[in-house]
Amino acid sequence: MCGIVGYIGSNRAYDILIQGLKRLEYRGYDSAGVALVDCDGKLKIHKSQGKVSNLESIASGANVEGHLGIAHTRWATHGEPNDINAHPHVSQSGMIALVHNGTIENYAVLKKVLMEHGYEFKSETDTEVLVQLIEYIKLTSSCTLLEAVREALLQVEGAYAIAVVEQNDPDTLIVARKSSPLVIGVGENETFIASDATPIVGYTDQVIYLKDNEIGVIRRGEPVQVLSMFNNEPSTINIQKLKLSLAQLEKGGYDTFMLKEIFEQPSTLRDCLRGRIVDNCRRVTLSGVDLNQERFKTAERITLVACGTSWHAALIGKRLIQDFCKMPVEVEYASEFRYGNPVLNEKDIVISISQSGETADTLAAIELAKAKGAFVYGICNVVGASIPRTTDSGTYIHVGPEIGVASTKAFTGQVTVLTLLALSVGQLRGAIDDATLHEVLAALDKIPETIEEALKVDPEVKKLSRIFSYAHNFLYLGRGYNYPTALEGALKLKEISYIHAEGYPAAEMKHGPIALIDHDMPSVIIAPSDSLYDKIISNVQQVKSRGGAVVAIVSKGNKAMNDIADFCIEIPEVPECLTPLVASIPLQLLAYYIAVNKGKDVDQPRNLAKSVTVE
Ligand code: G6P
Repeated sequence: MCGIVGYIGSNRAYDILIQGLKRLEYRGYDSAGVALVDCDGKLKIHKSQGKVSNLESIASGANVEGHLGIAHTRWATHGEPNDINAHPHVSQSGMIALVHNGTIENYAVLKKVLMEHGYEFKSETDTEVLVQLIEYIKLTSSCTLLEAVREALLQVEGAYAIAVVEQNDPDTLIVARKSSPLVIGVGENETFIASDATPIVGYTDQVIYLKDNEIGVIRRGEPVQVLSMFNNEPSTINIQKLKLSLAQLEKGGYDTFMLKEIFEQPSTLRDCLRGRIVDNCRRVTLSGVDLNQERFKTAERITLVACGTSWHAALIGKRLIQDFCKMPVEVEYASEFRYGNPVLNEKDIVISISQSGETADTLAAIELAKAKGAFVYGICNVVGASIPRTTDSGTYIHVGPEIGVASTKAFTGQVTVLTLLALSVGQLRGAIDDATLHEVLAALDKIPETIEEALKVDPEVKKLSRIFSYAHNFLYLGRGYNYPTALEGALKLKEISYIHAEGYPAAEMKHGPIALIDHDMPSVIIAPSDSLYDKIISNVQQVKSRGGAVVAIVSKGNKAMNDIADFCIEIPEVPECLTPLVASIPLQLLAYYIAVNKGKDVDQPRNLAKSVTVE
């Protein structure tokens, strides 16, 4: 949610900033802007509504020189996405520029006070209040920019990662964070700052993850300094090695990141499983569980918290844990959990699931669970993100950077790790028999190849997508393990094609959605040959008898469904608990091709952002 990037060094800042913004565009693309401090001490601002490419057009031909600069790509929270509300925001005197990711909750109060002191505001943003406040403090206290930033941040409530520059100081870049991510890349005589490491890759692999309530002071030619916001004391600097390659950030011959990420799933799941299934498929090793065996053995309940697609993975996780660990499990939206007065104690385990590791609601849910004494476990993709640094323990899904806004490979990675975790904890608690454990692990071990097989439906789904691109509404139905798969299939379609789609438990359909069914509303029904197959057949018939078209996702070799459904897509046969992994593949492809047929921007769908760092 909003991306910020900054550079200080001897190269032209503009080029590095624009490239960095493009890599951060997944965080928002409502507007973009740069502020450059020229060697002659001038501050130049270029900003524009829309994507980074618009900014490039606006800035082409303009003076974009300077070796210090900050930039921003926005997902609008306060004020509509127009040129004026675009960052960087500049103080009244035009001397200080600032970019911000997050929200300033007490901005209205601060704005009122500043207006009483004669400050005028151009934008509707909360961010402009912060830059004006910094200037006000600097002028009234005759202090340095660093002191003014620190003082201002102590008055601010909310979440932020900020970068600040000043017109007459081409040698200083100041950054700070609280509840929004910020990474500093330390190069040879140059330093980079960004919301995540992607803009830094290719320049340096030495990074510092700023912690909450820390200020980073980056002075040309000097080592980075990190200070505590509260007492101004230097913090210990932990430089880490970045394990991210440029190839992982490119489309690799595919038209879009989303398609690349769908087709990458055999290899991402291989990475996700690597070294975790051992003893000839008779045991799982997950260090987060192995190191906390007592916690998992004695836990009385597990609560899964997440948002969006990760929440769908959590719903599948619930069934897995119930089936294999035979213990009570709850699933909560992080945003509801955090304000729901959850009853927790030290016998509770809270598992937070997040691709980005930065989702504000999930982070807040973790803080709350920790405060109540629960043991908090994280399942995350982005290494070093805020969530894995906040949780007591956890597991990375290791599927590599996911850039398409609609999550695909992260979802299958999350479900895979949840399967491993449920099996591991189930074995630890003596709740699963050896034969079942072995059967599931053997199938899971082969899941990369199985997904490769499942991806062969691509041409068929592409063809089918043409028939259904006309529809304005879709119903996705599934039962048991595949009710969450239905939710996820519907979400994919909504996100990227803007077609209304509802996911529903197939049997619940008759309590409402059935009224919507007519020949204009197709249903996608997930009906693998599992324990609920006979039940779902009746649901297919209920749709058919009301004139609705049915696309059925069935297990390979199921010819009987051909007589009932309009179209059948076959998926490889796997144990029931693994069917969501396989059934998701045609659903991802269907959503993808429908969106492409409708001419939509699948990687950057309107109004969405990949990393939601506001509540
Ligand atoms: C946004 C993204 C979704 C994602 C959700 C949760 O809405 O567009 O793809 O599922 O946030 O994000 P997280 O990073 O916590 O999994």
